[in-house]
Amino acid sequence: MNFSSQIIKWYKNFKRELPWRETRDPYKIWLSEIILQQTQVKQGLPYYERFLASFPNVNALAEAAEDDIMKLWQGLGYYSRARNLHFAAKQIVKMGKFPNDYNSILSLKGVGEYTAAAISSFAFKLPHAVVDGNVFRLLSRFYGIEKNISSVSGKRYFFDLANSLIDKNKPDIHNQAIMEFGSQMCKAVKPNCTDCPLKDECYAFSHNMQKQFPIKNKKQTVKSLYFDYFFFEFGSHTFIQQRSNEGIWKNLYEFPLIESSKQYSKTSILAHDSLQHWLANQSTTVKSISCYKHVLSHRVIFARFWRMECQKTLENHSFKTIKISDLEQYAVSRLTEKFINEILN
Ligand code: ADE
Repeated sequence: MNFSSQIIKWYKNFKRELPWRETRDPYKIWLSEIILQQTQVKQGLPYYERFLASFPNVNALAEAAEDDIMKLWQGLGYYSRARNLHFAAKQIVKMGKFPNDYNSILSLKGVGEYTAAAISSFAFKLPHAVVDGNVFRLLSRFYGIEKNISSVSGKRYFFDLANSLIDKNKPDIHNQAIMEFGSQMCKAVKPNCTDCPLKDECYAFSHNMQKQFPIKNKKQTVKSLYFDYFFFEFGSHTFIQQRSNEGIWKNLYEFPLIESSKQYSKTSILAHDSLQHWLANQSTTVKSISCYKHVLSHRVIFARFWRMECQKTLENHSFKTIKISDLEQYAVSRLTEKFINEILN
């Protein structure tokens, strides 16, 4: 039995039943793949169900308000996925129907080679191999490939190999099977070699080198950032703003914020120009400070939320004045959500 037949045989016996595997609707498949891009199946599943309930087809998604989409996405992280989803829904509506060839699918915003291959094969049975982290790991271990998956040439090598292995009659099942096998059997930590039907032919197993594959040597630099947020209590109201910076939290709401790459002392933050400008000489009392360390893939944010009482409104007309009890209606980052939960509960 060749590689594809073996993984397909395993898949038929052991696959997880997942709703996006029971459909050929490209809209549903696309939505599932975008949700699953940086998210575990268990975490993504309820988001998938809620998205489909709110936006059952691409027209509904295209016509939705961005704020509603962001609110539904809240907690999933990597928010550019949600913005791109909205943008691409409008692209698809303009095209007249969901594109059904690889290159047109690849032209959708937020759709890279992996996602284009997944949609092309699952919805249209086109023979494009998916190559994701699971596939790099499985193929590098099975064939003992010492190419660096962080390099362009290494990626290309795996891409060509994956495409040479695909079963052209069942590209959809082959792709589901290779990913499922990678994620459930050939796991990054503690692979299940004991039950693996490929172990007799597996290079890593026979050399006891599972931990060495795949080879990657790109060092991520983790940057520390210091965020001071101000939760101003003005009677039953507070002030928020929508984040417009390009970046992961674009368009999410947040409290007035002073960002820095260095930690301010408490005295220097209270004397900071921005804070002084917002308060315009009104006297305030600091009721409490809540500190959080928020770890993202390439950033660590040390956040302080200053809880302050003020007697007048703030001098910044781009702030939105809202009821404190309405805070939960706004799409916010996980970090801000933690603080909101602390104050509302
Ligand atoms: N991760 C990404 N795509 C997936 C899929 N179709 N099924 C399960 N996990 C996935």
